[in-house]
Amino acid sequence: MTPVPSSEQVQLLRVSFAKILGNPKHITFEFYENLFRVRPDLRSLFPSDMTEQRKKFLDALRMLLGAVQRLDSMEGTVRVLGERHRKMGVCPAYFPVLRDAFIAALSEEQCDDFTEEVRVAWSLCFDLIGEKMMAETLQDVP
Ligand code: HEM
Repeated sequence: MTPVPSSEQVQLLRVSFAKILGNPKHITFEFYENLFRVRPDLRSLFPSDMTEQRKKFLDALRMLLGAVQRLDSMEGTVRVLGERHRKMGVCPAYFPVLRDAFIAALSEEQCDDFTEEVRVAWSLCFDLIGEKMMAETLQDVP
């Protein structure tokens, strides 16, 4: 099980996320570009116009990040989001791919500020969110 990020890690995530909000279109554009470069087969899961999706993803990330130390308190919301993803054909193995695509985009955008500590904090955050979103799928595995 992925550990809950420490308060220091949450602080790093908040600072890093605040920088994303300085130019949100750029990071979400680069992030999905990275994802589709690494996994072109996943492109067809998404709509051809990604404008709304980019916004929705960032809004969801903002919400989840705001409660990352107590995701269990948002169990219903996370379960519904996970369920929607399951129905769209998203499986647990896609989450690390998405995580790495996001982290690569961030690291390019935030350059020197993107320290190893920041990278570890984001990685943990994505692993935890993925674990919670896919909890029911993982339970299905015998
Ligand atoms: C941190 C993890 C993730 C978050 C926060 C997230 C968030 C979201 C949100 C908020 C939506 C919009 C749902 C709606 O319209 O009701 C969405 C849609 C979608 N997500 Fe994710 N997602 C995550 C991981 C993934 C992964 C790993 C994949 C796999 C490639 C994925 C693929 C999709 C697809 C295909 C859609 C539907 C787009 C559409 O047809 O409108 N997501 N996601």
